[in-house]
Amino acid sequence: MNKEWEKWTSEQKKEFQRIFIEWYEKEKRNLPWRYNQDPYRIWISEIMLQQTRVDTVIDYFYRFMEWFPTIESLANAPEEKLLKAWEGLGYYSRVRNIQTAAKQIMTEYGGEMPRTPEEISKLKGIGPYTTGAISSIAFGLPEPAIDGNVMRVVSRLFCIEEDIAKASSRKTFDEAMRSIIDENHPGEFNQALMDLGSAICTPTSPLCEECPIQAFCLAKQEGKQPQYPVKTKKEKPKDIYYICAAIQNEAGAYYFEERHTQKLLAKMWTFPMLEVTKETYHLLKEEWAQSYEPDLFAESLVAEEEGHILPFAFSDELIWQKRHLGEVTHLFSHLKWHVLLFYGRIPAHSENVLSETKNARWLNPNGFNDVAFPKVQVKLLEQLEKNRNNSNPF
Ligand code: ADE
Repeated sequence: MNKEWEKWTSEQKKEFQRIFIEWYEKEKRNLPWRYNQDPYRIWISEIMLQQTRVDTVIDYFYRFMEWFPTIESLANAPEEKLLKAWEGLGYYSRVRNIQTAAKQIMTEYGGEMPRTPEEISKLKGIGPYTTGAISSIAFGLPEPAIDGNVMRVVSRLFCIEEDIAKASSRKTFDEAMRSIIDENHPGEFNQALMDLGSAICTPTSPLCEECPIQAFCLAKQEGKQPQYPVKTKKEKPKDIYYICAAIQNEAGAYYFEERHTQKLLAKMWTFPMLEVTKETYHLLKEEWAQSYEPDLFAESLVAEEEGHILPFAFSDELIWQKRHLGEVTHLFSHLKWHVLLFYGRIPAHSENVLSETKNARWLNPNGFNDVAFPKVQVKLLEQLEKNRNNSNPF
């Protein structure tokens, strides 16, 4: 492999760093975690920014800092509040890891974030990227922070042929970064790469004419920007099929279940869901799309629809008014959920069949703010809201 970064003279490196840092100081985005170098704020922002866009993160970040202003308050926070703070950001194991790490910091480091990359990287949920980001931005250490954006920029800068989807390529990017990082301004350097990657050196159609470091970029010189980064296609996410029930009682509350600790979205609350085969899902979807829709808000009791045998154990004996509300899809990193939603009402005398337990609750819509819903549940609530009065939700 050609290590193009080894061909740069120290003057070239200095010139590159000067131009790049000057550009950053002039153009940097005004973001709340950039107001100071508090390692706690930098840590939380970097975890939130993994897989989530900057614009989305800003409000979450402010609220998180208001609710948990110190590492100590985070370590002692009730889990429900923590999950609520993360609601909608996804990847909920991240916030659980954050709390585990906060407890580690309390017991092992007296509540102060440790200051060496070795110690930082031992905290729960902190991998090489976050270690590099905290070390460089908060503590001014010349550590690279390599994520997908940075790999894209660096692979173009030096025409690196290695596949960025492979873990083994990391070493090469680490070496290239250590060779060019500005040791006097490592935090600024890393964040300049992040900003460049998000605004200019974009995945498709990069804006090379606006790029401050275009003169140094090998891919630009050779007109090969579209060929970099080299990346093998990810496997297609696996399709998973669910039937889901939005069941309302006469007091207006909905029935929710807490998901099993061993499952995806562990301990998050959703409408009852039942996994079905792809065949069952499509059969039901077709049937529902054609079926007669009773007027949901009719005063009188509507007769059970005939012939819709739903696979929920409770569905046919208990639910006296049904309406099909279409489907919701939701993409996780490795799975795609397809969820067919129906609405049902349960009469007061049957309510005890769906009783409250540690893992099941009736929740009134005005109490929805007290629990953490995963994004897919938020979508289901939107679907419910949108289609309750629509006779053809598909
Ligand atoms: N993406 C990841 N970390 C970031 C940061 N510190 N600033 C802006 N975007 C980012």
